[in-house]
Amino acid sequence: MKSSHTALNYHPEQLDRELRPFYIGANEKDQKDMLSELGLKDLGELYAHISPEVLMSKVHLPRALSYEELIAHVNDLSKKNNLKLSFLGDGLPQYKVMDVVGPICQIRGLTTAYTPYQPERSQGTLQTLWIYQSLMSQLTGFEAINASLYDRSTCLFEAMNCALRLVKDSTTVIVSSTLYPGDLEVLETHAKETGLKIIKSPVNPQTGKLDIDGLKKLLNTTPQVAAVAFPMVNNLGNIEAVDEIVDLCSTNNVKSIAVVDPMLIGNGGLKPPSTFGTRAQGADMVVAEGQHLTLAPNFGGPGLGIFGIRYTDQDRNSIRSTAGRYIGKAVDLKGRECKALILSTREQHIRRDKATSNICSNQSFVATIAGASLLARGDEGFEKTLSHSRAMSELALNLLTQYEGVDLKFKATAFFNEFTLKLPVEVKSIIKKASSAGIHLGVDVSDRYPEISGEHLVLMSFNDLHQEADIHKLDHFFSTQFNKTKSAGAVPKIPSVMMRTTSPLIPKLTSKDIIEYYQKLGKQNLSPDDGIYPLGSCTMKYNPYINDYAAGLEGFTQVHPEAPVEDVQGSLEVLYEIQEMFKAITGLPGVATQPLAGAQGELAGIKMFQAYHRDRGEGDQRNVILIPRSAHGTNPATATMAGYESKTVDGKVYGIYTIDALPNGEVNLDQIKKFLETDGDRVAGVMVTNPNTAGIFESKFKEMADLIHKAGGLVYMDGANMNAIAGIVDLNKLGVDAVHNNLHKTWTIPHGGGGPGDAIVAVSEKLLDFIPGIQVVKKDGLFQIEKPKKSVGSFHRHFGNFAHKIRAYTYIKALGGEGVQKMSQIAVLSARYLHAKLSQNYPTLPAGAQSSIRMHEFIVTLTPETFKKIETSGTPKANTIARIGKLFLDFGFHAPTVAFPEQYGLMIEPTESYTKKELDQFCDVVTNILKLINEHPEVLKTVPHFTPIDRVDELTANKNPVLSEKITNVLPTILPDRVPVEKLRTLTSSDLIELIIKTHQEEMAKVQ
Ligand SMILES: Cc1ncc(COP(=O)(O)O)c(C=O)c1O
Repeated sequence: MKSSHTALNYHPEQLDRELRPFYIGANEKDQKDMLSELGLKDLGELYAHISPEVLMSKVHLPRALSYEELIAHVNDLSKKNNLKLSFLGDGLPQYKVMDVVGPICQIRGLTTAYTPYQPERSQGTLQTLWIYQSLMSQLTGFEAINASLYDRSTCLFEAMNCALRLVKDSTTVIVSSTLYPGDLEVLETHAKETGLKIIKSPVNPQTGKLDIDGLKKLLNTTPQVAAVAFPMVNNLGNIEAVDEIVDLCSTNNVKSIAVVDPMLIGNGGLKPPSTFGTRAQGADMVVAEGQHLTLAPNFGGPGLGIFGIRYTDQDRNSIRSTAGRYIGKAVDLKGRECKALILSTREQHIRRDKATSNICSNQSFVATIAGASLLARGDEGFEKTLSHSRAMSELALNLLTQYEGVDLKFKATAFFNEFTLKLPVEVKSIIKKASSAGIHLGVDVSDRYPEISGEHLVLMSFNDLHQEADIHKLDHFFSTQFNKTKSAGAVPKIPSVMMRTTSPLIPKLTSKDIIEYYQKLGKQNLSPDDGIYPLGSCTMKYNPYINDYAAGLEGFTQVHPEAPVEDVQGSLEVLYEIQEMFKAITGLPGVATQPLAGAQGELAGIKMFQAYHRDRGEGDQRNVILIPRSAHGTNPATATMAGYESKTVDGKVYGIYTIDALPNGEVNLDQIKKFLETDGDRVAGVMVTNPNTAGIFESKFKEMADLIHKAGGLVYMDGANMNAIAGIVDLNKLGVDAVHNNLHKTWTIPHGGGGPGDAIVAVSEKLLDFIPGIQVVKKDGLFQIEKPKKSVGSFHRHFGNFAHKIRAYTYIKALGGEGVQKMSQIAVLSARYLHAKLSQNYPTLPAGAQSSIRMHEFIVTLTPETFKKIETSGTPKANTIARIGKLFLDFGFHAPTVAFPEQYGLMIEPTESYTKKELDQFCDVVTNILKLINEHPEVLKTVPHFTPIDRVDELTANKNPVLSEKITNVLPTILPDRVPVEKLRTLTSSDLIELIIKTHQEEMAKVQ
């Protein structure tokens, strides 16, 4: 082993795919052989059908680093961050990370699997999320907790929209101005140009809490209020009068949205939101940030949006107005208990522009480890954490208030473990001096409220990582700045009515038991490590271990996003470099790094379009977005979420104008032209996926972009399929104004069983001034943060899912310009090769695209004769494609994407990660599947045969959703595979087919 490898917690040389050049499966010979079978002379020919006018000659990235160089480089970078004794919190507190987290983050079956759309092969992910939902339900007292949203800020926005749907004719939400400023900014960004009106309820400058009289007044005078959103512990550390607020909401018939800190409502802490209100009626919805339940600050992300709603015998319907995924209890066809995704008829992939939200990828893996962390902490651990954190804050207050001019700002207001201290001098300078003394003192909140101005205020947070010695170090620092002249100030008592009276009964398990349990769950999923994971449009490529290694370096994980700029140079350099990398990769001049997933990238793009048009005085006039019918559901859902609500008035379409596909799957340019002729001045923009979801490069894209631009509109390219063209096509030359790059697809971020995702959005010159969030610039020898002139606002409280930026950064550093191009070329070569082979037996879709050249993916279907045979054997045509997907599970593979964008299609995307041998083996499987269903179509009635459970009865699971169970120290049973995947992969196709037929016959015999 090379010396620099000793730093790693894995052995790269023992990993089949880790040390391959650019993580590409096919070697030179493989590539040559595949090219020759396709009759192509070189890789460049794969793109010969694309106009040279839009091709990029070279990607301007530094050369690729070797594995050893990469290890050294990421270590050097992480050391550029200065870790110090920290009292930073401000909505992102820090607690001990449970020791189960590291090992669970290495379970590849959990980290790298896709969203559990195939429940029979995803019980691993589903069970981890079930545990999360159930435990979170025990903690909050809410009957329904969803399987995560992005973070607290976007959760709040989703909760508000849910309230608008629940309260008839409402338009307005009152939010407490004592919520975290980062959250408020995200809310404002999202609400702009939509029908949602946000009114801020003022703070009481004396108590540092929400002014209850002010809220009463607003409720009395504001029409069409849907909800009031308020924190339990506010942005000054103060505990709010939650009972009064909830009472006020119920008397006024508006929804109460409680924003809580999930750590503080653990055993021994504050009371759960289900009991807020003097009649203990509870809040209607709960919103929380869960990052600190399981992760260190990681420069702000990934976070974990916790959302809950009441789901009782009295109210079984409100849940249907909420956003995001839920896991429900289900049974398989034999009555075995299992789990499945439920209630998806609210989601974008089904409901498109009518969906409750555009969210697709969520924070699934963070929810997974949050569940495991809850089990590791248990009631006992919560009690210890909370009493210790409280004790540290009391000790600090006691010591610090003995200094002249240093006082608790709100002397009569209770806090838990975060408080606002008044200092006799300017906070900025003290923070600087503290930093020199090795302390991140806190957050300067002197200017947080105009009502409380003219004072020097610092917000300080205490936790279970602090030891008494740390508090004495803090005291010592104060002694160097101030004189100890007085006795300590009193610590306000927390009213007993605010404390939890019953334990949430969260069991505490040993780390060993938890890790073993999650390892078993990991085995219930598949990973791209195991072989081709053919989910089209999802780019299930190999996720290098070294990316996780880099993201796990302490210098990155432990750094708080509100630490002084000088102390976070390593993280800012990563962000700066990411900006530069994606400029080089896309050819576009601007890059935004904040969006948390593809869907949020789309929203950021469309918000920039709106800001651009508004800036030119055309904001109201440009009220239509053009979207192809074949677009991913997030596109229309995003447009609606941004404010383009579809309606037809006097025969004119407003909101979304749907473009049909030509028989070859490409957008119908004539239809666009026609619309532009009559309504060009109303077009805000177009959203087109390219290459499209049929795997075909839109040959008229540039022509379309030119026409849209001529009409004054803008062009959004959904970049989910960048794996086909990254570093090959210059998006600036193509006429793109905004594009998102899903980091969890092309850029090798693990999918985490559904998230966290991440999206880098690149923009054209026109949109530079409107970029959301922050830009990192190099100035005076430092990386610094700037906000673009007319920024649309923020999409994240801090810097987005920062840990994922490091992963993508590490990947791109390993590729360099040459590797980026090679990655795309081999992804396309692999798909073209498979397409050529499979299309000999399978018809392909779109029906009119037989001569269209495919890129990174393609869609196969069956002949009418095969459909007929299957139908005659007892499987209706409508179910056939889904059942064939299940047949892939019998062969030890994941299913392709079924029934999207073509109802009768199976979309296959092999990616560049696999060797020719693996591609050939996969081709053999797909060919044998066709042979099997032609000869024995009846087997589709009982598929899948070897997964731990039979086909899941999703219909019943949806009829009467069961969303949680009481988790005790005996965790839910894990059923083993009926035949392990490793065994399936070693059987010959004919043996497997024999086994499938035999198992089918046995199943049928049991039924008869
Ligand atoms: C074409 C396309 N667009 C958008 C998205 C949404 O991306 P995300 O899941 O990152 O929000 C996806 C995700 O599968 C996609 O395939």
